[in-house]
Amino acid sequence: MESILIIDDDESFGETLEIFLTDMGCRILRANSGKVGLDIIEKEHPDLVITDYKMPNLNGLQVLKRIKEIDVKIQVIMLTAFEDMDSTIKAMQLGAYDYVEKLELERIKAITKRALESKKLSERLVIAISEDSSDYQLENSLVGSTKAMKEIYKKIGKISSTKVSVLVQGESGTGKELITKIIHYTGITQDQPFIAVNCTALSESLLESELFGHVKGAFTGAIRDKKGKFELAEEGTIFLDEISEISPNLQVKLLRVLQEREFERVGGEISIPMKARVVSASNKNLSELVKMGKFREDLFYRLKVFTIEIPPLRERKEDIPKLVVHFLKKINKELHKNVWKIPYEVMEILQTHDWVGNVRELENTLLQAVVLAKGDVMEKEYILLKHDEFVQNETVNKANLSLADIEKTHIMLVLEEVNWDKQVASKILGIAKTTLYNKIEAYGLIEKK
Ligand SMILES: Nc1ncnc2c1ncn2[C@@H]1O[C@H](COP(=O)(O)OP(=O)(O)OP(=O)(O)O)[C@@H](O)[C@H]1O
Ligand SMILES: [Mg+2]
Repeated sequence: MESILIIDDDESFGETLEIFLTDMGCRILRANSGKVGLDIIEKEHPDLVITDYKMPNLNGLQVLKRIKEIDVKIQVIMLTAFEDMDSTIKAMQLGAYDYVEKLELERIKAITKRALESKKLSERLVIAISEDSSDYQLENSLVGSTKAMKEIYKKIGKISSTKVSVLVQGESGTGKELITKIIHYTGITQDQPFIAVNCTALSESLLESELFGHVKGAFTGAIRDKKGKFELAEEGTIFLDEISEISPNLQVKLLRVLQEREFERVGGEISIPMKARVVSASNKNLSELVKMGKFREDLFYRLKVFTIEIPPLRERKEDIPKLVVHFLKKINKELHKNVWKIPYEVMEILQTHDWVGNVRELENTLLQAVVLAKGDVMEKEYILLKHDEFVQNETVNKANLSLADIEKTHIMLVLEEVNWDKQVASKILGIAKTTLYNKIEAYGLIEKK
């Protein structure tokens, strides 16, 4: 049975409160001074203390401080007859659970219930993550110790000391770009440029001039010579992301670069040597595309001298707890928050979910949870999984809304939740900050003051 200690020099109020709380089914203890209260606490270690603020000799703050020295896990609710900002702030800083006006019995009861639940929750914590992440590398580190990941580490080791072409395959969000960066930054190329090109983002002719550069006058708008990404990569790494999307024409040109190790700028005649390592990535199965005749087989073989296949997260769920710890360190640091505690059941939810969006979805879910978290515990209600949203959407009749309506409402919801911090909002929404600005403008969204 849980126990509650009420400390108040006003014994009649203490009695009223005791009677009021009896139906909570807890054992209730009473003390009429701070000193008597502290003696009881030393002996009984109650789960919760409700103490008056204004008392002769030891006041509520002094009692609170002492309680936290005896046992930090004891929750303390401070009662006061008047609202006093300074003492409220002080009490919260000293670790009080809440601060309530003395006459609001119903509120005291509600807060008492919540404080007891929260204490139970803290006792079921699996991980209280060490807050010291100063010597921990948060950026560009790959987390995971499953067999599949260990194989990947070995391959990275081999690849990074050479310049052979590498094809990295894996579903969206599995870490293709991260792995490519690690290949680059741990190996012989680390002092050279890392240049990434997204092959879907541009039209064929733009992509061609992005990759190979152009000379002045090569086409309308080519007002001066421009180096392409192959040139900019120098002796480093060029990362061709979403390689499956390049057109048949460019496939031929790329094949030539890989075979001859040289190329010309668009409209130019001078051959430029290609010295970079080529890493390409795809979330589509390239060999399937080859079979379907959508991707050149000869190019495919040139690209995949080495291949790294990253399994989806749902096939290596044992890595999830480590990833959670890693991301919490990163996110807490980024957002200046302190969500270090994860209850068992929450870790279980995270570990059993199927994560169609893989590691990125896990990271975004945690980011959202940290933003929503009020204390240091990552409570279940903060974990908003994809299927939950579908369930919620189904319960309301939204059949008459357009996609734009839903997008607008959702963006507004996220913005409000994060107090219009656009950096954080864009991360949660999974869009670039500039895209978010454009959408805010397009939908005419305004911050409510
Ligand atoms: N094993 C891992 N350890 C730590 N962080 C990881 C790991 N795998 C992925 N991440 C992180 O997950 C996020 C997504 O990774 P990344 O962008 O590399 O995925 P991707 O496969 O390139 O996705 P897409 O196909 O959507 O481009 C990044 O923030 C990355 O740092
Ligand atoms: Mg990527």
